[in-house]
Amino acid sequence: MAELSNIKACVFDAYGTLFDVHAPTAKVADALGPAAQALSEMWRLKQLQYTWLRSLMGEYVAFWQVTGEALDYALAAHGIEDAALRKRLMDLYLTLDAYPDALDTLARLREAGFATAILSNGSPDMLDAAVGSSGLGAELDAVLSVEDVGIFKPDGRVYQLAVDRMGVARAEICFVSANAWDAAGAANFGFQVAHLNRFNQPPEGLPGRPKAILTTLAELPPLLA
Ligand code: LAC
Repeated sequence: MAELSNIKACVFDAYGTLFDVHAPTAKVADALGPAAQALSEMWRLKQLQYTWLRSLMGEYVAFWQVTGEALDYALAAHGIEDAALRKRLMDLYLTLDAYPDALDTLARLREAGFATAILSNGSPDMLDAAVGSSGLGAELDAVLSVEDVGIFKPDGRVYQLAVDRMGVARAEICFVSANAWDAAGAANFGFQVAHLNRFNQPPEGLPGRPKAILTTLAELPPLLA
């Protein structure tokens, strides 16, 4: 595997990479019954599709609204009409669990002298809530939201935000995402990318190649040493 070289800052995708987007449905699995997993996967897929489609339409809205509209679609597709359950799922999205390897990895990177940040589609209020409840805030130098550029990933303006805010060249940024399409977009932009392939998915047929493939976040710090 290629080593990542001359890295100054490590920038992480949030949802799916540091935060487990399937935690909300798992927490209300009793109410959802056997549909829980399919609903969760459809919610996530629609959420992402809506970001891509809205970007193409020039119709940016906050990720919080996109997340709610995607949940409405997924609930309707499963024949579920339950306002209290919808509210519970949205509330849980504000306090997502961090993956167990997230905090320790961020701490190790900072100990080694790297700046750390999140770069996410999430709206600032969503990111603040998740960073606060997960305890990751203490190990992050910056939390960057697409809200500042008004378009979603993988538009190049989003990745440029990290360059501008971290004050380093694009090739000095190690970008880490568990979303393969985001990893491709970031590599195409010019970051050195580590794709966290948590779910052992095949490579995407997209421009932009990750330099490294990880199965857990804990594998990252040794690659940068
Ligand atoms: C994010 C989505 C892509 O956090 O997971 O930007």
